[in-house]
Amino acid sequence: MKPLIVANWKCNLTTLIEAKLLFNSVANGIKNIKNAEVVICPPFIWLVYLLNPKPFTLNPKFGGQDCFWEEKGAYTGEISPSMLRGLGVEYVIIGHSERRRLLNETDEMVNKKLKAVLRRKLKPIFCIGETQEEKEKGETIEVIKSQIKKGLEGIPKKEIKNIVIAYEPVWAIGTGKSCLPDEAMTVSLSIRKFLAKIFGPANSKNIKIIYGGSVNSQNVKSYISEAGMDGVLVGEASLDPKEFINLVKNVSKG
Ligand code: PGA
Repeated sequence: MKPLIVANWKCNLTTLIEAKLLFNSVANGIKNIKNAEVVICPPFIWLVYLLNPKPFTLNPKFGGQDCFWEEKGAYTGEISPSMLRGLGVEYVIIGHSERRRLLNETDEMVNKKLKAVLRRKLKPIFCIGETQEEKEKGETIEVIKSQIKKGLEGIPKKEIKNIVIAYEPVWAIGTGKSCLPDEAMTVSLSIRKFLAKIFGPANSKNIKIIYGGSVNSQNVKSYISEAGMDGVLVGEASLDPKEFINLVKNVSKG
């Protein structure tokens, strides 16, 4: 399985010129890389420009940073899975902790979004993770299990292979305090065991579990080779083209 490297640009790159510059440098820098799958998730508004005309390359692919659970209607400000699919987007980040914390996105909302995204044959990157306080209280595994159970409630067993799970400890996001590789490995093993219990070992064995939280070009290898993660979700380090290209190169060196 090729490692999956997802760049989450968040609400950065405030002009189209900046977005195009970053995209072009990254696309150019990774164009010969075949043994990693790279996905760029720009703000919605820049997706339209970056995908038009659709770049004729395997890497990078595109993802949305969120989407709504309804297809269309009176939902001011929302973007639907069909709109993303129509543009040529392949992945969608769902349930990022910044949305859960700042916009009160609940597990129930995340569940509706995951179902909608799967219905439109997009691949959700389902974010889960504990806060600093929950970690200190020793509740990490309990929190993760509850987010998985509620987030994946009612999703058919055969769909589960299309979901990417992103383990992103909230305390590690944007803080420079990255999680130790063996801590990430312990959590990812628990996730895999729990998925196997709910969906059966056969349905859950190929599911990708990636790590996110202060990943950079220096520590990325430890998550892939030491912690056995199937990829990474990168915020800050994806905004610097040189750093992000090095990160992708370091992963693809094997
Ligand atoms: P970070 O963000 O790499 O800046 O910690 C990761 C994320 O929020 O997905």
